Amino acid sequence: MSDKPWGGRFDAPTDSFVEAFNASTSVDARMYAEDIAGSCAHATMLNTQGILTNDELAAIIKGLNEIQTEIESGEFEFLIELEDVHMNIEKHLTDRIGDAGKKLHTARSRNDQVATDTRLYLRKRTDAVVARIHHLQAVLVTLAEQHADTIMPGFTHLQTAQPVTFGHHLLAYVEMFERDMDRFFDARERMNQCPLGSAALAGTTFLINRNQTAEALGFNGPCTNSLDAVSDRDFIMELLAAASICAVHLSRFSEELILWMSAQFSFVELPDAFCTGSSIMPQKKNPDMPELVRGKTGGIIGGLVAMLTTVKGLPLAYNKDMQEDKGAIFDAMDNLEGSLRVFGDMLPGLKVNRAVMLKAAASGFSTATDLADALVRADVPFRDAHEIVGKSVAYCIAEGCELHEMDEAGCKTIDSRLKADMVQQLSVEACVAARNHIGGTAPDQVRQQCDAWKALLES
Ligand code: ARG
Repeated sequence: MSDKPWGGRFDAPTDSFVEAFNASTSVDARMYAEDIAGSCAHATMLNTQGILTNDELAAIIKGLNEIQTEIESGEFEFLIELEDVHMNIEKHLTDRIGDAGKKLHTARSRNDQVATDTRLYLRKRTDAVVARIHHLQAVLVTLAEQHADTIMPGFTHLQTAQPVTFGHHLLAYVEMFERDMDRFFDARERMNQCPLGSAALAGTTFLINRNQTAEALGFNGPCTNSLDAVSDRDFIMELLAAASICAVHLSRFSEELILWMSAQFSFVELPDAFCTGSSIMPQKKNPDMPELVRGKTGGIIGGLVAMLTTVKGLPLAYNKDMQEDKGAIFDAMDNLEGSLRVFGDMLPGLKVNRAVMLKAAASGFSTATDLADALVRADVPFRDAHEIVGKSVAYCIAEGCELHEMDEAGCKTIDSRLKADMVQQLSVEACVAARNHIGGTAPDQVRQQCDAWKALLES
């Protein structure tokens, strides 16, 4: 009554809606190459162990290779009644080569199979994301070098704080992306263990060689507990966490680009190829790409929360709930990779309005801290200096002038320790140049950091 590969004990066919609801092919078909690689490694090991004959192995490998070609040329039809990528490929193999195909599933379960395929697939996707991060870092370092002495306002609370160099600001993101890359490397290393051979949950009665399959598939070794191997989804949570943090970094950067491109800031302009217009307002040029990247972050974080929530109540070992894992992580990796690509392609075309940035940096009393520092150098205690500069700012607001425009008489009305040469020396160029130590915003430091990053990124 049931024509399923598992149909022996069933009397009635699957409900037709359940068939579609249960199927995961629309999500997991993309793991076909990993499923076939896993099957080839498993069959080869079964042959080494004397469980499959040479002829059976040859038929299996040939059949699987043909299936791979068909999938890649679009001829292969995935059937929802065969549930998932694993049973679709196995059934087609059996239709093609007969009994040898039916033997492939010896000493294996879909539980260790799906865990293996997912790790293999995500290993590949992790490498692609890492390459995108690396490229984006290189783009940012090139831009930072060009803007080592471009001065912009630095903000805290989005209020003008102190002048910084634009190159320094860009290098802050290079640091963030470096940590993101490390998180992906770290997750990759931990997930690179092979579940194959754990079978349904307890292992198998056949004398298998798990080291052989692990090695053939490029894993560091086999997972050492079969229950854990088939029910562990930590590697997906870790990747989602790494992806979420990286997306948050891209989102903060997006927010800045969107602000900076507004008429009110006018610090930068994004290239036309990465913006769109409005269907009603002819003047509009909208920063859609950073907006979309910022927007995708919500979905990526949502995937992490979904995965943690899905697994939190699951008893060992495999539960069907776990089928939901792939949608979350695949979407996250697709969107993160896309976001990184957009940023890497868009930023080389960034137009930077140096004059506007410089003007903004010089306004808002951004040199006030440096005036306080000058007073401290003249032996005024810092708290007194802070008070004197605060009063100077109030004076300038009332007079409608800048700090460096105060004259001797003006200084005297505030405090006898405040001298005209202290205020007249103030400039945004001097402010940034003076912060010339490790991690400081001085152009010299930015150039040194760019050199260090280039050496690291090229190594
Ligand atoms: N499609 C399933 C998944 O993605 C494969 C494993 C199914 N195992 C099972 N015993 N039903 O999780």
